[in-house]
Amino acid sequence: MLEEVKELPIIQELIVKQKKCMEAHAERQKAGVISWFTEGPRHSPFVPMIIKKAKGCRLVDLDGNEFIDIAMSYGPLILGHGPDVVVKAVQEAVTLGTSVVVGHEFEYKLAKLIIDNVACAERLQFTNSGTEATMQAIKIARAFMGREKIAKFEGGYHGTHPDVMVSSNLGTERRGTKDRPEGVLDTPGICKHILNTTMVLPRDNEAAFNIIRENARDLACVILEPMGPGWPKLNIEFLRKLRQVTKEANVLLIFDEVVTGFRTCFGGAQDRWDIVPDMTTFGKIMGGGLPLGAVVGRHDIMEVAVTTGDPREDVNTKIHSVGTNAGNIVSCAAGYAQLNYLKENQGTVYPYLREQGGRLTGAVQEFARKNNVPFRMMGFESAFVSHFLEDDPEDMRQLEKNANMVAGKLLSYYMRRHGVHMPDSHVVFLSIAHKPEDVDTLIGAFKASLTDMRKDGFF
Ligand SMILES: Cc1ncc(COP(=O)(O)O)c(C=O)c1O
Repeated sequence: MLEEVKELPIIQELIVKQKKCMEAHAERQKAGVISWFTEGPRHSPFVPMIIKKAKGCRLVDLDGNEFIDIAMSYGPLILGHGPDVVVKAVQEAVTLGTSVVVGHEFEYKLAKLIIDNVACAERLQFTNSGTEATMQAIKIARAFMGREKIAKFEGGYHGTHPDVMVSSNLGTERRGTKDRPEGVLDTPGICKHILNTTMVLPRDNEAAFNIIRENARDLACVILEPMGPGWPKLNIEFLRKLRQVTKEANVLLIFDEVVTGFRTCFGGAQDRWDIVPDMTTFGKIMGGGLPLGAVVGRHDIMEVAVTTGDPREDVNTKIHSVGTNAGNIVSCAAGYAQLNYLKENQGTVYPYLREQGGRLTGAVQEFARKNNVPFRMMGFESAFVSHFLEDDPEDMRQLEKNANMVAGKLLSYYMRRHGVHMPDSHVVFLSIAHKPEDVDTLIGAFKASLTDMRKDGFF
């Protein structure tokens, strides 16, 4: 498939339009650079995007082409690229130190802001990334419960550490039945024995509750995104029941809010739907565009991450949790500036994003419906995915089976033709830097791209 795609006129057109990007990419490859920014973790770099600068909702590439960005760094940039409030905070913080590995003002201010506003957050520990946050949360859950097994949902992505790289949304084969999925490793390089400790559950499916009950004695935790934008449906009743079942079964519930944290309201899904997990993981928005993550949770659970001060004692009772840059002074200053802005402006930011997201998806869906284009935009408010599908899918398996993946992959290249940068097969995001007129441009670009794709015979 990839070879065929390379020869398509749209790709050839972009190779000319982004000639300097292509040359710079070739130079990097020759030098031995493996950059997931240009190569992608799974996605083929037909025409890599290499930028000169980014500001607000716009990117300028090496060739001088300007694009409205809806990749938005895969989620952190809710205020846009380089918002003044964050840039100023970073400039001030770097004059105080770049990495200190002792306590500092911003670590405290950011942690307190989160603890004061997130329902399950009685204590917080910083990490460097979302991946580290889910890894750390799982370790804490295991140590606290004295159990080794964990459960995640089929199609759920929680980063790149081995425990969660099972049956994610990375094109992994599906095995077992819809009600009893079997775990499948997402990538080489992960030991098969992970499948003995990571169980896979079916999402939005009552069968998941029986699997949890049956395995309750061995299960430390269940981890999921409460309202994943990559997940086609928001199912609050399922979440509510999951909370009840995990409580009754004495299994910890972890919400992975690395993407959704601070995106649809300040207190996250647990506040919005009043469903309080035992622990939550954050990343992306909380770092203000710099590398940062955090685990929060119940006071008693988080105790296993607090050292006694005696290494011999800690070896038996505490998880080893340090990171040279976890809670870095500049990252925390950026994160605090961004979250503080969101907190102070939550009455305008979230309604604005909701309105513009609704306007964008509504207009594009309407266009697709009227023109019989098999296209669906799914997700939540300012974070959504698009798929080429006839009907709304009932579950992830149906989505993966029915979606036209080649068209899905190529949409981003057609969008580039029309001045928009979006990731190839990934969630897209709006920010408050996307003004109503930018959203109008986005609507126009989606319509034009779908029209071009029809002309080119994709549906
Ligand atoms: C739900 C979820 N959890 C965890 C992660 C991992 O975060 P990071 O990329 O910061 O390691 C991601 C990344 O996209 C994510 O979407």
